[in-house]
Amino acid sequence: MTYTICYFSKAKEDITQHEVEAIFAKTRVKNTSKKINGILLYMMGDFFQVLEGDEEDLKEIYEIIKEDQRHHTVFEIINKKTEQAVFKDYNTDFNIVRTDTQIKEIKQYLRSTKHNTTANKIDRLLEPFFLLP
Ligand SMILES: Cc1cc2nc3c(=O)[nH]c(=O)nc-3n(C[C@H](O)[C@H](O)[C@H](O)COP(=O)(O)O)c2cc1C
Repeated sequence: MTYTICYFSKAKEDITQHEVEAIFAKTRVKNTSKKINGILLYMMGDFFQVLEGDEEDLKEIYEIIKEDQRHHTVFEIINKKTEQAVFKDYNTDFNIVRTDTQIKEIKQYLRSTKHNTTANKIDRLLEPFFLLP
């Protein structure tokens, strides 16, 4: 058993590229060191994040994330125990998603993990980001 949290949120209006990069850097380092897997994506003012790992670790970091003033309107999609960690075998580092190519790779990976309902759901949730110019 593992735990999964997945949400969308709105970046604060005046967020700078520099601030986004600082969030990315911190997330990558801290999550990788805590063996939290998943993805963090920012595009056109929206964040999308999937966190997978130990339930207690995730709940603790999620409380911190929700209070972060650099985003708001956190819309939770998944917050539950799950059978398998979808991203466990994708990359040993926590994934920061910056480009269309990276989204495409993740979608391909998600489609290859057949019969996993969480993977299917994340695949669908990534669709709007992929359609952006
Ligand atoms: C959209 C968003 C996602 C974030 N995701 C993470 C995360 O997955 N892991 C993490 O450690 N911090 C994340 N953060 C940053 C935390 O809110 C917080 O600033 C950071 O964990 C504080 O770390 P520190 O105590 O080492 O300074 C995120 C922030 C935002 C705005």
